[in-house]
Amino acid sequence: MSEPTSAEILTEATRRRTFAIISHPDAGKTTLTEKFLLYGGALGNEAGTVKARGGRRSATSDWMELEQQRGISITSTVLQFPYRDHVINLLDTPGHRDFSEDTYRVLAAADAAVMVLDAAKGIEPQTLKLFEVCRDREIPILSFINKWDRPALQPLELLDDIEEQLGLTPTPLSWPVGADTEFRGVLDQRTGDFVRFTRTARGSTMAPEEVVEPDRARAEEGSLYEDAVDEVGLLEAVGSSYDEETFLAGVTTPVFFGSALTNFGVRLLLDAVVDLTPAPSAKAVPERDPRPLDAPFSGFVFKVQANMDKSHRDRTAFFRVCSGRFERGMVVTHESTGKPLATKYAHTAFGTDRETLDIAWPGDIVGLVNANDVRIGDTLWTDEQVEFAPIPSFAPQHFAIARVTDTSRFKQFRSGVTQLDEEGVVQVLRDPDIGDQAPVLAAVGPMQFEVATHRLENEFGAPVELSMTNYSVARRTDDGSRNELRAMQGVDVLQRADGTMLALFESPYWLDRLVAERPELTLEPLIAGSG
Ligand code: G4P
Repeated sequence: MSEPTSAEILTEATRRRTFAIISHPDAGKTTLTEKFLLYGGALGNEAGTVKARGGRRSATSDWMELEQQRGISITSTVLQFPYRDHVINLLDTPGHRDFSEDTYRVLAAADAAVMVLDAAKGIEPQTLKLFEVCRDREIPILSFINKWDRPALQPLELLDDIEEQLGLTPTPLSWPVGADTEFRGVLDQRTGDFVRFTRTARGSTMAPEEVVEPDRARAEEGSLYEDAVDEVGLLEAVGSSYDEETFLAGVTTPVFFGSALTNFGVRLLLDAVVDLTPAPSAKAVPERDPRPLDAPFSGFVFKVQANMDKSHRDRTAFFRVCSGRFERGMVVTHESTGKPLATKYAHTAFGTDRETLDIAWPGDIVGLVNANDVRIGDTLWTDEQVEFAPIPSFAPQHFAIARVTDTSRFKQFRSGVTQLDEEGVVQVLRDPDIGDQAPVLAAVGPMQFEVATHRLENEFGAPVELSMTNYSVARRTDDGSRNELRAMQGVDVLQRADGTMLALFESPYWLDRLVAERPELTLEPLIAGSG
């Protein structure tokens, strides 16, 4: 295959939109994902194939079994589908109630986010946490107020909630006409049209849309239409109009109203993803100029997942293409080992299915099967060396001591724990004086422990017993402070595999006092979930 030209790479990159949906569980992320696929034509003409619940999902591994038992999605996948003349890469953030490091990492590969709110609930705890990660990364957010076909809060109340809880200025780009069972359609602020929708059976096919002229709208919808027009007039008067610059800076969020279930407003939202969210751009490189999109191939690993399919017993490293063209079979350099890496087994992951992938462009996500030495945060490249900044590891808040229950399985336990650490399932902390006997597993959310113990037992044949500790906060420390800290009550100092020393504290208040009273001790905060 001939080398791609700059123009070809830039054209392909410009067509890409790579984003994630963030929401609190039950707000409708799965439903909306499925409807995006429906509108992208990726489901044929009928929805209902992605969202598999209970017995409908076929179990391909223990991993999936755990998902099934919990009725949650633990594995993150990427869905790629065409829409208009664009290519959409939808990153799936894990949807469970518990927060895990995985979610942060997935957002590290996204250029934008769609925040889904339940119209009856507004901002919920998980939305807030995910939003904070987006804010840290300064990625632009579109907001979708979902379930407008049901009893909901007032639209202005929801806008206030976004403003007050997130500090984001909402700029509605669609406004609902009617609500609940009388939800008729939306005023599309981008065109000025009233778009009226029609329900379809179970929402399994696209909702027919009709642009209704104002006079007819008044005659047919009466006060539902007039009230909406008045409200929009008020909004315009207070200046909450869409503004590209502040949206891209993550200061304002365009808001859309709709119902994923009935497909109302889904097309308008997907159009906005294409029209408003940014295409991939040159990725920053520490202490150097960013790597241009049309430079030779480079990619950035943001997720490593083992055992997605038990019959393969494999390990898949997902990377985002940052520059150039990726071709399956090309030999790339794995920056952290300096070794060449063959890429014969490159895939896209679609739900739990895989498809072989031949070519990928900036913004696309590729899964490399059997990339055993590849770790989260690693850089892959060809022709011109580059190393992107690693994804930070996160400040854990839960700590548990792990012990193998059958000592004859200690070897398996040790290699399992090491692998889970490398994959970032949990962080593993050790006391250098004790070694591997009873490492402390550290996590951002307790669900990570469940996944770790399940995998240690089922994949490595090393059943473990976890004892939760009372530690609740970690700080980075060093050799100089270690001994003194260790002598204190309610404090321990342990080491990560990368050599970083973490001081663990039971009481955050006591830690604050110590920081204030003993400034000479090294106790660096691991800020905003990252460290
Ligand atoms: P999640 O991935 O964010 O957790 O949410 P999910 O899409 O699974 O939706 C949670 C529930 O909310 C589902 O109902 C779903 O059908 C419903 N839902 C999603 N969008 C809308 C909407 O626009 N309007 C209405 N009325 N309901 C919506 P469920 O009863 O838990 O599941 P199911 O039996 O319908 O599959």
